[in-house]
Amino acid sequence: MSNQSDLPKTVLITGASAGIGKELAHVFARHQFDVILVARRQDKLEAVAADIKQRYGQMAYVLTENLADPAAPQRIFDWCQEHKLAVDALVNNAGYALHSEFLEASWQSHLDFMQVLNISVVHLCHLFAPAMKERGYGRIINLASIAAWSPQLKGNLYGAAKSFIVDFSQAIDLELQPHGVHCTALCPGFTFSEFHDVMGTRGQVSKLPRFLWMTADEVAQEGFNAVMEGKSVHVTGRVNQGLTQVMSMLPSSVKHYLSKQQKVM
Ligand SMILES: NC(=O)c1ccc[n+]([C@@H]2O[C@H](COP(=O)([O-])OP(=O)(O)OC[C@H]3O[C@@H](n4cnc5c(N)ncnc54)[C@H](OP(=O)(O)O)[C@@H]3O)[C@@H](O)[C@H]2O)c1
Repeated sequence: MSNQSDLPKTVLITGASAGIGKELAHVFARHQFDVILVARRQDKLEAVAADIKQRYGQMAYVLTENLADPAAPQRIFDWCQEHKLAVDALVNNAGYALHSEFLEASWQSHLDFMQVLNISVVHLCHLFAPAMKERGYGRIINLASIAAWSPQLKGNLYGAAKSFIVDFSQAIDLELQPHGVHCTALCPGFTFSEFHDVMGTRGQVSKLPRFLWMTADEVAQEGFNAVMEGKSVHVTGRVNQGLTQVMSMLPSSVKHYLSKQQKVM
């Protein structure tokens, strides 16, 4: 196993066209990683790539994919193979939340949601981690959320999807850490990005106090540091760390009561 620390590195980031993913691309590029940017909106990805090339002089590749397509992870992997790009770091960041109750949303929308938020994440890890293990170096960040601890939203799969990401990331971190591959579940709270516009909750969440919010850049910087330090779970910001500690101590009956009181969403 060779020491890989001084060799040029490449990171692949999903959901790199906006928000936290875009800022993670900047943070990795600032640390001399070339970047492979994946999302659906090509024009946005091209703009991020041009900015990164100009600011940091790193290579920036654009790959337009819809992760709701179950074939997308394999296509992404094959594209990297064809272009002879070894992926040293993988960031599974693409995500969104549906703003509807369970029975209101169609089955197809639930399937797409679980494909993007969970299955594509597991599939991309399964595709890219073997070569990381082989090379003795790898960094994986999977975007979870403090929603993994917080009271549930009525009929919403988001909390369950993010709990899965926390548990999955810890499980593969246990397997891969001895081989130089670290996996971090990155858990932000309210973060300025397009997330709440896509979800349709901008009006409600904009009433929340400023101290509950972080910038996407702050979240990205903490995520980068956490995976480099080998943390398997990282909650961003002191406020969110305090909130998750309190929430993890609450009995489930109290959490369920709090869920019933929620009016934010
Ligand atoms: N913002 C928050 O308050 C918050 C809090 C906790 C956790 N998170 C998590 O952080 C991650 C990033 O969210 P964000 O806040 O940065 O949101 P955002 O600004 O809305 O960005 C979401 C990114 O995901 C991409 N994406 C969405 N659906 C996709 C699909 N089907 N295929 C490929 N790419 C897709 C979007 O790109 P295209 O539209 O171009 O495809 C975009 O680049 C998500 O996993 C989210 O759950 C966010």
